[in-house]
Amino acid sequence: MFSARTSWNRTENRWNVALERARSQPDPRPLCDLTESNPTRSGIYDSEPLVRLLGDPRGSRYQPLPFGHPEARSAVSQYYRRRGLPVSPDNVVLTASTSEAYGWLFTLLADRNDAVLVPRPGYPLLDWLAATQEVDLRPYPLTFGVGWRLDVPEIARRVDEHTRAIVVVHPNNPTGTFVRREEADSLVRLAADRKLALVVDEVFGDFRWDEAPPDALASFTETAGCLAFVLSGLSKVALLPQLKLGWIVVHGPTDLVREAMARLEIMADTYLSVGTPVQLALPEILARSPQVVEAARHRITSNLRVLDRLLLERGAEFGVRRLPMEGGWYAVIEVPRIHDEERWTLLLLERDRLIVHPGYFFDFDRDGVLVVSLLPSPDLFEQGVSRLVGRITAECR
Ligand SMILES: Cc1ncc(COP(=O)(O)O)c(C=O)c1O
Repeated sequence: MFSARTSWNRTENRWNVALERARSQPDPRPLCDLTESNPTRSGIYDSEPLVRLLGDPRGSRYQPLPFGHPEARSAVSQYYRRRGLPVSPDNVVLTASTSEAYGWLFTLLADRNDAVLVPRPGYPLLDWLAATQEVDLRPYPLTFGVGWRLDVPEIARRVDEHTRAIVVVHPNNPTGTFVRREEADSLVRLAADRKLALVVDEVFGDFRWDEAPPDALASFTETAGCLAFVLSGLSKVALLPQLKLGWIVVHGPTDLVREAMARLEIMADTYLSVGTPVQLALPEILARSPQVVEAARHRITSNLRVLDRLLLERGAEFGVRRLPMEGGWYAVIEVPRIHDEERWTLLLLERDRLIVHPGYFFDFDRDGVLVVSLLPSPDLFEQGVSRLVGRITAECR
């Protein structure tokens, strides 16, 4: 009765089973969740005033507009212009989320079993999105030096006759590195030469920290020369994933943009998936998003300081360190390889009631990496990092 493409292996891995057990077992010590990245549970700011903006009475009328309401498309254009990036409202396509945008773009660009190149380490949701579209995801490695860098010659070696697009996550999740201008230029040249599109996920683009170097590209909307789709949305830009509004900026050579827009229009018209109230509220939400990003920046940088201080004071002697990151919401921590990642995460869960992500969730090319969210409240975050360094000390002694 069901399609072969949805016959996914749904058996839980050991870590998920242990997590369920830890959640259901009564224990006087509360679980400390350093994977919490739902911004609506983070208490970073009071989102109620923004959510109330959805009450515009014009929202009671339905206007089926495939690319979105003109005011909302202009608001996205203004959002980029405030960052010094000229984006025309005509090149903006609204979607219900960035995830939906990926799905539409995979459909636009790839036939069954065509391939899309994706960064590794990277964001695991892409595997599921590609599986539903029957697109073949082929990883390209980000090479680790000072941070994780794009290796464009290596990407070029992985392009073959099935390849249709290259996905870039800018800054990458969870490694937090931005593409440099020079790397972006070579990538655009490669895409143009090989007739490929770039799909650039910039959901964390506003979350750029002090460690970001000046030659980091602000946005791929600045590039020219190949067909590029730049994705973002309210789930990160305003910490409002529940409003379900994302967008695609389509840009590049005029003829390709025209053809892409014509095809996307049919797809968007088929779904009409973005609600009118959120579209009407978008200008005001995006006008206020800089304050939201500032509040998140405050939370993230103060958690980073706590993390760095505790790792230096109590973890350095065992070689524990945070890897360099330039943006995003996550920190990557290297731990001693006396245990593999799964063992570390199980020990932390079962003995310390601490939840952290093993690096293999994100396909790191090395063992001994744990990933934590920087969104939790400061008290919880400090408690979690203390439990982490306490466990490492106990295991290494
Ligand atoms: C890199 C990246 N892209 C996209 C998304 C999903 O965004 P949306 O809520 O707009 O689908 C996430 C969610 O965490 C993400 O980390």
